[in-house]
Amino acid sequence: ASSGLGTEIVGVVNKLQDVFTSIGSTGSSIDLPQICVLGSQSSGKSSVLENIVGRDFLPRGTGIVTRRPLVLQLINRPAGSNQANGVDKSSDKAANADEWGEFLHLPNQKFHDFNKIRDEIVRDTEAKTGKNAGISPQPINLRIYSPNVLTLTLVDLPGLTKVPVGDQPRDIEKQIRDMLLKYISKPSCIVLAVTAANTDLANSDGLKMAREVDPDGTRTIGVLTKVDLMDKGTDVVDILAGRIIPLRLGYVPVVNRGQRDIETNKAISAALEAERDFFENHPSYKSKAQFCGTPFLARKLNMILMHHIRSTLPDIKARISSNLQKFNAELQSLGGALGEGNSGNIVLSVITEFCSEFRTTIDGNTNDLPLNE
Ligand code: GDP
Ligand code: NA
Ligand code: MG
Repeated sequence: ASSGLGTEIVGVVNKLQDVFTSIGSTGSSIDLPQICVLGSQSSGKSSVLENIVGRDFLPRGTGIVTRRPLVLQLINRPAGSNQANGVDKSSDKAANADEWGEFLHLPNQKFHDFNKIRDEIVRDTEAKTGKNAGISPQPINLRIYSPNVLTLTLVDLPGLTKVPVGDQPRDIEKQIRDMLLKYISKPSCIVLAVTAANTDLANSDGLKMAREVDPDGTRTIGVLTKVDLMDKGTDVVDILAGRIIPLRLGYVPVVNRGQRDIETNKAISAALEAERDFFENHPSYKSKAQFCGTPFLARKLNMILMHHIRSTLPDIKARISSNLQKFNAELQSLGGALGEGNSGNIVLSVITEFCSEFRTTIDGNTNDLPLNE
């Protein structure tokens, strides 16, 4: 399960992200740490995200389904802490009072029905990009509160594609590349490079692009999907051991639901069980099953994110501080300084307090999970 510590730390970053989004920060001067999903179309990015969340809620289909970045903040919240006021369960028998989503563009609206979350992602995507296969860099911000997730911020990005389909613009490949580069170029971004295990790692579009922005592989994690679809007698052991394309943060192999599982509405809980069985009973993986699969990936991401936040927070603080000074000076020249209750000052004081507690708290808690294995 999640450590309360991680929840607290990443929780502050999530709050900051919301503040910056609502005060209209472009993100160019202040970049908060986050994990971005990168890979070719149909490599399994949406499946990986859904498995991490443990719920079925992302739009699927053929072509470019993800056409805007989805900033997904997962927030661990113990069961029973919800008042459950006004929860409408009528439309979804599986609705759970302890588990819901909230969109930044729809304040105060709780979505307990995850099918409606999917509908809203589709609706808002079409509202901003049209019904054709156009893309937009304008993100959708979604928070998911649940007792069953680790606190993490993930960004789902459109998949890399080569050939325009339908009425897609001719330069769709370049448009997508430019959008992805904008996210993954930031040193504060951890890249989750998704590659299907039944394709050649050397040809992985996600890994290639990750290498462009992170040549030493210090902020790239490899995820190998479709391990169950590999030819008999082949496995990913050489990749995991770093003998093919080494990544400092390593690779995690996963097994998601196949197309048939999705068509037959196989529950994610059942899929996660099947994934565990697969790794525990496979001759190539059973000795290292604890380092395989979605639950391990989620714990590893949470840990990496905490370390990453620790190392980037002092820099974020310095940049916020200098921005504030600049704004204050500008405002003073217009006849008044910012008051105590100003959102920028609140942000800065939260961070200041946080930075001072940060090292001591985190330093004592870094040994509960191996970052490399
Ligand atoms: P995305 O385009 O990268 O978001 O890919 P999706 O998550 O939509 O997956 C594309 C297709 O691959 C879907 O039909 C999935 O069911 C299937 N798929 C994804 N991961 C796996 C896996 O680990 N095993 C199997 N058998 N199928 C998978
Ligand atoms: Na897809
Ligand atoms: Mg997808």
